[in-house]
Amino acid sequence: MTLQCQRHLFDMPQETCYLNASYMTPLLLSQMEAGKQALVQGCHPWEIEAQDFFTAPGEVCREGARIMNVSPDDVAIVPSASYGISTAAKNLPLSSGGMILVMAEEFPSNHYAWQAKAEACGGSVLPVPTPPDHDWTSAILETMAEKGEQIEIVALANVHWSSGAVLDLVAISKECKRFGAALVLDLSQSLGAMPIDIAAIDPDFMVSAGYKWLLAPYGISLMYAAPRWQQGVPIEEGWITREGSEDFSALVNYQYKFQRGAKRYEMGERANLLLAPVFLAALKQINEWSVPAIYDYVRRLTQRLADLAEGMGYRPIAPEFRSGHILGINVGAHGPATLAALKAGGVSCSLRGSMLRLSPHLWVNELDIDRFGQVLPKAVSF
Ligand SMILES: Cc1ncc(COP(=O)(O)O)c(C=O)c1O
Repeated sequence: MTLQCQRHLFDMPQETCYLNASYMTPLLLSQMEAGKQALVQGCHPWEIEAQDFFTAPGEVCREGARIMNVSPDDVAIVPSASYGISTAAKNLPLSSGGMILVMAEEFPSNHYAWQAKAEACGGSVLPVPTPPDHDWTSAILETMAEKGEQIEIVALANVHWSSGAVLDLVAISKECKRFGAALVLDLSQSLGAMPIDIAAIDPDFMVSAGYKWLLAPYGISLMYAAPRWQQGVPIEEGWITREGSEDFSALVNYQYKFQRGAKRYEMGERANLLLAPVFLAALKQINEWSVPAIYDYVRRLTQRLADLAEGMGYRPIAPEFRSGHILGINVGAHGPATLAALKAGGVSCSLRGSMLRLSPHLWVNELDIDRFGQVLPKAVSF
């Protein structure tokens, strides 16, 4: 299916040129409606039944599982990427002297937990430096070949959050298995926009912040735990994650067994009665559009943005190493001036380190692309 621009489904004025999905996506109009209904329900708690604590969260996991290509049992609702990564760090073993491989300049959610884990276990964090050509896959595979079994945990994304450079996670996962290293993924910058087959990659844990490409309201995210890690220890000793918690009259018949699958890792108040229905409306819409169709539309946009930038003297990351939904352009020391010029021209995007990060989505139309071409300053003009 070929998608057309979906701007009519968002509350986005025509003069808004928002190329910043990597920062935070706008909610859909259908989500606004779902949110209003959830607020009305909150005004009438006498209408809230025990089953309401399970229905929307259960559907969130089912729709999320479709996007990942895994079983809904393997999916848990968590508040943030940090929470999911911390859960993985709590459960994965690390020997004294063991190494945790990460990417240099990785988003902090996928860094601090590993630093703490390494300190607690007498291991170390091994950041792979940013390769000059952004060929992360080769750089990571070379580091793994060099360090071998010293690397016990590999914590990655499938695109680098600031540059949009892409990683071949199937190839990396194969190497992890060969060396016996665990693989933990933070897919916050791609799940929902880029086709990703979690079953094919078979990571140990995966998390994705919701409020970017999954179009979630802020504060609700998805985590995956492989069946081999579904007997682990959660961060919180919650009650709703226990077997039989559906029966509110019997909660003090304390039950130390957890619900099946990855549910044990869910956050307290995971049945967030306001956020879950709003998230659910987005996941249903993403599955209706289909992730490959979203990616196809967005990839055509980033290609056009890259062509325009090249025409102005910039050198975006080479097509073979960049993803189709995030376009990173190295602007060196000129980042703040470039960003300010774009902002003055009404274009919203991000600067992360030396990378100008452009991340369009289905609301972006021809006028937005033209606007970017008109206001992007020449690479040599400052
Ligand atoms: C790669 C990546 N991971 C995670 C996050 C958000 O993390 P958290 O959900 O812990 O706030 C971001 C936000 O920019 C990100 O880019």
